[in-house]
Amino acid sequence: MASILSPAPGNVGVVRSIDDKIYVGLRPLSTRTYVAVARGSKARPFAVVRASSEKEVSVKSSGLSIEECEAAAVAGKFPDPPPLYRPQGPKGTPVVQPLPLSRRPRRNRKSPALRAAFQETTLSPSNFVHPLFIHEGEEDVPIGAMPGCFRLGWRHGLLEEVYKARDVGVNSFVLFPKIPDALKSQTGDEAYNDNGLVPRAIRLLKDKYPDIVIYTDVALDPYSSDGHDGIVREDGVIMNDETVHQLCRQAVSQARAGADVVSPSDMMDGRILAIRMALDAEGFHDVSIMSYTAKYASAFYGPFREALDSNPRFGDKKTYQMNPANYREALVETEADEAEGADILLVKPGLPYLDIIRLLRDSSSLPIAAYQVSGEYSMIKAGGVLKMIDEEKVMMESLLCLRRAGADIILTYFARQAASVLCGMKGN
Ligand code: PBG
Repeated sequence: MASILSPAPGNVGVVRSIDDKIYVGLRPLSTRTYVAVARGSKARPFAVVRASSEKEVSVKSSGLSIEECEAAAVAGKFPDPPPLYRPQGPKGTPVVQPLPLSRRPRRNRKSPALRAAFQETTLSPSNFVHPLFIHEGEEDVPIGAMPGCFRLGWRHGLLEEVYKARDVGVNSFVLFPKIPDALKSQTGDEAYNDNGLVPRAIRLLKDKYPDIVIYTDVALDPYSSDGHDGIVREDGVIMNDETVHQLCRQAVSQARAGADVVSPSDMMDGRILAIRMALDAEGFHDVSIMSYTAKYASAFYGPFREALDSNPRFGDKKTYQMNPANYREALVETEADEAEGADILLVKPGLPYLDIIRLLRDSSSLPIAAYQVSGEYSMIKAGGVLKMIDEEKVMMESLLCLRRAGADIILTYFARQAASVLCGMKGN
């Protein structure tokens, strides 16, 4: 059986051929996808595309075994060429001369093996970054506006969620804390408390799973009594340079706890260079910066703000987040972030901003991240629950499209669910 192996999910080794001894069994998933289950592991499968399905095979096989075929060939008896086979259309099909086409793109799509061979974009669990909401409590609290998402208890639910995600090849996580009102202030000082919720959660995760990649959010909004990403002046202006000062302390505190990638999502000017210098001054040369380069003032963040109870107390975020009408402005931000030393550039939201992802992909050599935000997630979930769309197919297509537009990694609340599908474990 000729087969093609799709890219192996991040956590798993490589199966070289379908007859290799590494796998222990084949589980059929659909008419043309098989999963090879690796030996000695409870869930280490590989998606395999079979060369053709019975339906599409028009050549009649001799029915000989491989040994008989070999013997026949050695004896000089080769199988006849396939007979010319012209399947008929239904009665009433018009009889026409074939169009004189030099190019028929459908030729490259005619079988599963050809389609798999020419697939330009792939999706793997290693592309996903899983955003996790955490809180001080013990229970996992469901988030009303985001079905399937929870505020996880940092000592219990968080560890369990990370365990399950790792099992399907997701090794990257970004943490978002729900901070009690009593700890919020106008200057957001809890953001750089070394014993705050996020640093504690990072230390715990790194102790249990030293090999995971931990991204953090750098912004004041979860800690701000005003619900803004920066310090608010008495006239309502968000103060840039003073906020950047706080963000540097926050990033250093997260790095000290063991964060791998700090991710400023605040959209203040000059914060990338300032954070880079602050990290380096403390010896954190190896800690990366993922900059929210093109973060738009979007209504798609609604469910997230409910999850963290972080709605701005007044006004909106339009003096720092970008105008959804703007395209060229994303280049201004890109040039600044590149020059200031960002390691990864992020576009947010995702699907409504595919043109911006493509713009950054084509204008920078840095890795590009896309954030499929809460509103995008909840719309797909709601459409699925109402049976208006096929949730799983729309989920996979939306993620693939973000990759096609040029995203290397995707921050998505679907990370574990999508990775489970890629690993052949549905309904996880
Ligand atoms: C805030 C932050 C937001 C999100 C990530 N970080 C919300 C905002 O800017 O108000 C939104 C993520 C989502 O909607 O999924 N720094």
